[in-house]
Amino acid sequence: MKKLLFAYHYFIYRLNATNEHGVHSPFVYELLTNVIYNKSDYYVYKKIEELREELLGSEKEIKVEDLGAGSLFQKSKTKKIKTIAKNAAKSAKHAQLLFRLVDHFQPLTVLELGTSLGISAAYMASANSKIKTISIEGCPETAKIAAQNFEKIEIKNVEQFIGNFDAILPDIVEKREEIDFVLFDGNHRKKATLNYFLTCLEKASENSVFIFDDINWSDEMREAWQEIKDHEQVTVTIDLFFMGIVFFRKEQAKQHFIIKF
Ligand SMILES: C[S@@+](CC[C@H](N)C(=O)[O-])C[C@H]1O[C@@H](n2cnc3c(N)ncnc32)[C@H](O)[C@@H]1O
Repeated sequence: MKKLLFAYHYFIYRLNATNEHGVHSPFVYELLTNVIYNKSDYYVYKKIEELREELLGSEKEIKVEDLGAGSLFQKSKTKKIKTIAKNAAKSAKHAQLLFRLVDHFQPLTVLELGTSLGISAAYMASANSKIKTISIEGCPETAKIAAQNFEKIEIKNVEQFIGNFDAILPDIVEKREEIDFVLFDGNHRKKATLNYFLTCLEKASENSVFIFDDINWSDEMREAWQEIKDHEQVTVTIDLFFMGIVFFRKEQAKQHFIIKF
């Protein structure tokens, strides 16, 4: 039933989604043509996709502590690395978009909620070795594999935190002057997602970019996405179905875009 509902929402998204030709905002048009639809093949793509291939072939099992809403299709406690790589990691298409977004906006810091095996963190950190990527993961064994992965592909600008977002995010945010780029990619529950959003919002500026993964994963996530769009500080949003991008640019009229991706 969940899968059917998901397919229905995807169908509605495809009906409503537009591309750069249906967009009148110069800011969004430029983002679409230069970043979202950019087909260039960056060197890091190959390196990280080779790592993903290796993980997808790994029979090694680890004990997984899932502090979030869990996987839609897989709930067991011991998982093979290849299963985690298949179910949890962002697709190449979406992870490469994260790389291009960091490359384009050049934030001071990237904050990621949900490291898993480190695929998306590796992409974001690769955009600029001078940008620090702070990545939080609640499962110690998963975080350990991510650390090994960063070492394997020589990524040195990821700082890992292990713990429950609920417990450690407020302190991490408190210590930062500004939170300018966030990927929310763990614990896909409405209340938790909105709490993390509000916590990060305390240090957001009008140039901040917040990215929410799996905005159509469940009714709860669709509701959370709606509340985020409605928030008074939010101006432009871009719905890519599997991901939602949020901007706070003050000169921009409030507008929500549904974009084919
Ligand atoms: C979808 S995966 C992240 C995938 C990763 N960003 C990528 O694309 O490579 C979500 C991760 O968030 C972690 N997580 C979920 N809820 C959490 C919580 N409340 N605190 C800390 N970690 C949590 C899970 O253990 C899982 O590894």
